[in-house]
Amino acid sequence: MPSIETFRQTPHLVFGGDYNPEQWPEEVWEEDIRLMRKARVNRVTVGVFSWSSIEPREGEYRFGWLDRVMDLMAENGIGVILATPTASPPPWFTAAHPEALPVTANGVRLVHGSRDTYNPAAPAYREAAKRVAEALAVRYAFHPALRMWHLHNEYGTVSYGPETDRAFRTWLQDKCGNLDALNSTWNTAFWSQGYSEWDQILAPQATQYLPNPSQVLDFKRFSADLLRDCLREQVGVVRSHRPEVPVTTNFMLPSWNHYDQWDLAAEIDDVSVDHYPDTPGIEGDVQVAFGSDLARSFNAGRPWVLMEQATTMVYDYAQGRILARPPGALKFNTLQYLARGATGSLFFQWRSPRAGAEFFHSPMVPHVGEDSRTFREIVELGTTLERLAELAEAPAEGQRVTDARVAIVWDAAAWWSADTRALPSNDLAFLPAVRSVHRALWRLGVNADFVQLGADLSRYRLVLVPSKLAASDAEAEALRAFVTAGGHAVLWYFAGSTDENLNVRPGSFTGAFADLLGIRVEEHHPQLAATALTLSDGSAADCWAETIELKGAQSVAEFTHDPLAGSPAVTRTAVGDGTAHYIGTRLQAEALEAHLHRILGEAGVGKDHPAAGNGLEAVRRHAGAGTYLFLLNHGPDAVVVEARGHDLLTDTDLDGTATLDPGGALILREPANITEH
Ligand code: GAL
Repeated sequence: MPSIETFRQTPHLVFGGDYNPEQWPEEVWEEDIRLMRKARVNRVTVGVFSWSSIEPREGEYRFGWLDRVMDLMAENGIGVILATPTASPPPWFTAAHPEALPVTANGVRLVHGSRDTYNPAAPAYREAAKRVAEALAVRYAFHPALRMWHLHNEYGTVSYGPETDRAFRTWLQDKCGNLDALNSTWNTAFWSQGYSEWDQILAPQATQYLPNPSQVLDFKRFSADLLRDCLREQVGVVRSHRPEVPVTTNFMLPSWNHYDQWDLAAEIDDVSVDHYPDTPGIEGDVQVAFGSDLARSFNAGRPWVLMEQATTMVYDYAQGRILARPPGALKFNTLQYLARGATGSLFFQWRSPRAGAEFFHSPMVPHVGEDSRTFREIVELGTTLERLAELAEAPAEGQRVTDARVAIVWDAAAWWSADTRALPSNDLAFLPAVRSVHRALWRLGVNADFVQLGADLSRYRLVLVPSKLAASDAEAEALRAFVTAGGHAVLWYFAGSTDENLNVRPGSFTGAFADLLGIRVEEHHPQLAATALTLSDGSAADCWAETIELKGAQSVAEFTHDPLAGSPAVTRTAVGDGTAHYIGTRLQAEALEAHLHRILGEAGVGKDHPAAGNGLEAVRRHAGAGTYLFLLNHGPDAVVVEARGHDLLTDTDLDGTATLDPGGALILREPANITEH
């Protein structure tokens, strides 16, 4: 039976993927094992979406096939991440409980026929989910193949309808206490929305014109809490059987915002993520860094699980395109994930199904079989990961898997509030703002974590807040305390213009932070999409301008267009031992890099490696007592880099310089005396 250490520490990086043997005759399982051994697979995720194979009728469990799969894996030294199948209730469930089917914002009750056809607020669904989780835990908690629980799959279903309305009212009663408080928080006097009974309150389904923004924001908070409660219930079930088995749930990054990642992370032992970059070339590589930095940050700086990536470069449902990755790209991107803290790499999926909704989704073993470039690259990747086994050691006590001195604020409610309709500009979206800042740092060769305002910021020199419309007094205070104690903070236009309930702060836009920034924002000047702005220092900008009055801050660059010519666009001000910076427009990529470069300089933050930046990615990963410097060349030209240490990829010692071709990589076990930047 595996010991606690088995769960906490693997002697190798994990490698494998979602495995669905229930979709295949058992002869194929033998072939799967042969190919898994060939590829050095050591982990499979079993049971995601297999509810109808486990429980074909209510209360009638069929574990025979799963017993055989678990045993087969144990016999072959392959660990199992066992999923609860609750993301796909079977037809018997929805037939018996039509009230538990999801209802769209337009009031349409969906029918069975895909996956995720459940309403997280429906008591019948919650009970059935707990029952099937319990049945699995009873049977497999002590199975020697079990390595981790994978609860549900990508929480994210949002539903409206009567079941939701009831749960939403209870949530609001908890939050507001009484109807007067709710009416005031939502300012329901506007458009005659005053509620006189709780039963009148509905989740914000489609309505005639603009919905109440405060109501919508509360509904998003409620939906996120609901998903957290679903997760919490299942965590309780599996932990009650064997608490040492680590528990995860996979986050879909970065595009899903139906839950608060920080809250979900607090419920589980380890964060795992599904990551599908959707742009070819270097932009896709930047996305890999972005997803990895989020995953590591959600897991409090500890190594995190890459639960799903794909062997194709892009699988984009929205665009309907599956793009082949160029040769070598799969390995190169996987090294990026490793550099930034992944415990290995798992894929969706081991083998493509012959039929079913995702029958052309890329797998590790494609339809054409073993004799394929995909499988050859998988075998090569498995061999490479085996060679990198020492990276699997946990960082020393108190050490993060990578260090960063810069943090970007990631905040679910900031995203939800930026999605509010009827803001002064349609270009105030959260994700593009955050991505542009992360991308600029990546290009400058500076690694970053993500944080919440309110978390401990003391390890950082610089905190960036690219999009944060709704901000509470406590959040504003946390940022002030960070700056006063010597930190540098950068805020962008519109931040803190409302409180946490989307009630505008009077006296100055950007009100929560105006005092800290030493400015008063008097008037917004949103720009038409085609309008290009140029600041006095030559910076190119667009989208937004505003009238900023200096109240102690100094202007760093001014607008040059009428009627704002000569008025401040970018400011800075000393506060206590630190500095508060403000950017009152949307800087285009190069100008953003230039301003961040200036601010990094002021904050005393250098590059993570002298050669880093402009497509040369340099990240130090801690494992055991060692540090490992990853150098990855994303650029079109060969580069010569300083390289001292033992390269794990080629098993050679380097002591001087090395040439990295485009797509080239080094993983240097650094000599003990190399100091970090
Ligand atoms: C993930 C999901 C998988 C599969 C994959 C396709 O989001 O967890 O089940 O659908 O996407 O890319």
